[in-house]
Amino acid sequence: MWTHRHLLGIEPLSADDIDTVLDRAETWHALSRKTEKKVRLLHGRTVISLFFEASTRTRTSFEAAGKRLGADVVNVSSSGSSVSKGESLLDTAKNLEAMRADVLIVRHAASGAASFLAERMQASVVNAGDGAHEHPTQALLDAFTIRRSKGRLSGLIVAICGDIAHSRVARSNAILLGKKGAEVRLTAPRTMLPAHAETLSPAVRVMPRFEDAVHDADVVMMLRIQNERLAGAMMSTTREYSRTYGLGPAMLAKAKPDAIVMHPGPINRGVELDPRVADGNRSVILDQVEAGVAVRMAVLDLLLTGGNHSPSDAPLPRPSRPSLP
Ligand code: NCD
Repeated sequence: MWTHRHLLGIEPLSADDIDTVLDRAETWHALSRKTEKKVRLLHGRTVISLFFEASTRTRTSFEAAGKRLGADVVNVSSSGSSVSKGESLLDTAKNLEAMRADVLIVRHAASGAASFLAERMQASVVNAGDGAHEHPTQALLDAFTIRRSKGRLSGLIVAICGDIAHSRVARSNAILLGKKGAEVRLTAPRTMLPAHAETLSPAVRVMPRFEDAVHDADVVMMLRIQNERLAGAMMSTTREYSRTYGLGPAMLAKAKPDAIVMHPGPINRGVELDPRVADGNRSVILDQVEAGVAVRMAVLDLLLTGGNHSPSDAPLPRPSRPSLP
């Protein structure tokens, strides 16, 4: 059913693999809405996250995901670890593996960092974002959110707007949505579009005018300007960017009446997203965050068990109440 030892990107996954993750995530999404949100499935397993870049949602949701499945989760970040003393990525990872980590979750600024480790480790490696390359769990949680809202992925029009050139989220989403039969429209100022953006997937169409991309879209996905990855100034002013490529109510009105608005976070309010849209009734941004835990549970589950179990297995036993003397 599931044959992958690592999750390094969307590229190596088939359309069936994607469905397997999304279907399994439904189970864990339901569990996460219960008062008692924990099972023993990964009891005794160790998950270590190693983050060389800032993160709020991804790191926290992997931690919650591992804990909800009963695993022990240890978080390491570059600041505060020996990485800041110059230890290499591979040495750091090998040391964590020597502690018998079963899964290593890695975020790094270099494209290919997760694959580099996967080739040299026994543990399963999950790519939690490698430079401007891929961010597979983000694309999976986005797909899960879209599927829950629209009931399907195939045939939908998804407009992705923002700093496409530096966005691993845009890349992973374009590849996933293409595999699942959606139409992907990429829109951004020319300086923020990668050369040959169309080669990401046959489903991709590049549309330089924002309103052309949003016209009749089912989903409008907005991205943050990746200031930390910009080599030089790529736009004249933030205000001008916001005027041309910011999503406000008037622009959203050009999409389908039931279009949803997505953003992987962190949002720069008032830059790419008008707060009225970010907080409006078409926004599913917090649904994406909720989906992030369920999808990451599904990924850990599939990597460590192959999915060969009834997913509702093994709820934690209720602690028996000590009887009063
Ligand atoms: C994204 C990332 O780090 O790639 N954030 C996330 O994981 N939710 C997008 C971003 O930083 O803009």
